[in-house]
Amino acid sequence: MTTPSDAGAAAAAAGQREVFSSRRLFILSAIGSAVGLGNIWRFPYIAYENGGGAFIIPYLAALLTAGIPLLFLDYALGHKFRGSAPLAYRRLHRMVEPVGWWQVLVCFVIAVYYAVIIAWAIMYTGFSVTTAWGDDASAFFTGQFLQVSETVGIGFDYVAAVVWPLLAVWVLTIVIMVAGVNKGIARANSIFFPLLMVMFVILVVQSLFLPGAIDGLNAFFTPDWAALANPGVWAAAYGHTFFSLSVAFGIMVTYSSYLKRKTDLTGSGLVVAFSNGGFEILAGIGVFAALGFMAFTAGTSVADVAVPGIGLAFIGFPTIASAAPFGTLIGILFFGSLVFAGMASLVSILEVIIAAVEDKLGWGRVPATLVVSIPTALVSLALFPTTTGLYLLDVSDAFVNIFGILAGALVLVILVAWVLRSLPSLSHHLNLVSSLKMRRTWILLIAVLVPILLGYIMINEFIAKITTPYEGYPLDFLAVFGWGMAALLPVLAILLTFIPWSARSKLHNPEYEQHQAAFEEEAGQ
Ligand code: ALA
Repeated sequence: MTTPSDAGAAAAAAGQREVFSSRRLFILSAIGSAVGLGNIWRFPYIAYENGGGAFIIPYLAALLTAGIPLLFLDYALGHKFRGSAPLAYRRLHRMVEPVGWWQVLVCFVIAVYYAVIIAWAIMYTGFSVTTAWGDDASAFFTGQFLQVSETVGIGFDYVAAVVWPLLAVWVLTIVIMVAGVNKGIARANSIFFPLLMVMFVILVVQSLFLPGAIDGLNAFFTPDWAALANPGVWAAAYGHTFFSLSVAFGIMVTYSSYLKRKTDLTGSGLVVAFSNGGFEILAGIGVFAALGFMAFTAGTSVADVAVPGIGLAFIGFPTIASAAPFGTLIGILFFGSLVFAGMASLVSILEVIIAAVEDKLGWGRVPATLVVSIPTALVSLALFPTTTGLYLLDVSDAFVNIFGILAGALVLVILVAWVLRSLPSLSHHLNLVSSLKMRRTWILLIAVLVPILLGYIMINEFIAKITTPYEGYPLDFLAVFGWGMAALLPVLAILLTFIPWSARSKLHNPEYEQHQAAFEEEAGQ
């Protein structure tokens, strides 16, 4: 008997675009991509920093007015034009292709550091058993574990405890990616996501029973209404939504290009967006209940124990794991969840690059995967598991999110909405296959509200980062790895468009022509 995944592989072997064998697998993979490190370590702290409970308001506003509309735009582009970001955009219009390559390069930058955080989490899952961090999790993280150098810069002193798990992350990722969309990505998500859900729900329930949990929840949910008057809070909400939903950096365009012709795009999008949002709130509850316990044992307030970003996960949770009842289990569940959530997102980030190479050069799955993944893994292994890797990771993450993802999104919506005026035909495409219809409100949000908000955020962030050096890092370091990297991406993206779409490329293929003809026929009925 031929299984759906065999059918998918057969389609790929015959040179056709592989399709997810069911809508369920697509939704699972899209949620797997969205729910990642952003939900577990980033959201709780960003919410806490930006008004606690009141942050839910800008967060929901960002989700409804920008996150979901852009998710639908990604779906429409990927599904209608049936290609990776550069191919789908090229089919829309030649002038949009560079934005596709820009998103591919953004994914490269994210992949090389994202894998490193997963490697840390693997080690910390093991450390939870031995409580290797002793009494001072903070000193352990930057000292014994990462051996962070006092000099900010690029160095090549390698830390074996990060090199080996990072190598394991890349080997596993490459094995998944070589297997393709159904046998690789969808199958990996079918394993990672249920495990993640079970582990995380147990973690949250367990955290809620810790002494002091209620104080943590109060800190998280007590609204600081005044924060809503601060534009920075709104910028944080919009900035976070893109990364968290995996929109505007090619992932959802690529995944939706693997959908069957008749698929409810907007209905699936709502399931993905609300699952991601729900997981985010769940993560906030779990993390802050645990921080409440940490404050309780330290005899201090939650504000004093909530350490920023990366530290919240790798310093806060070890402290909890050492002191709480069933602490080892809490540590294993938390860091194990980070590993599974991170892996499901990492494969989606890498798929953007692999699919682009397959489409542009007309290569098969295996050579495209190897040509993309091995150099990406080597860059990740060369630059990050070092005593200076933490600085590089921090700067790459801060700059690529704003001046890569958000800047790319701004250029994309201006081109699509204003220069090419393609939104009516894209909304028509969504409506042709979807249950929830997109009408004038969707067009107005994408064409008017999203560019205004993104433009405002970009200007503010630009001024903020120019006037105050990020984290006080040396200017030459920021100039090269922050500003330099961010500026290089669009330049390289333009250069990549000069590589011709060869005869073997997927630009002109009969399967796509049939796909389009079928849509036109349906539209005419
Ligand atoms: N959406 C992924 C995350 O939240 C990239 O980590």
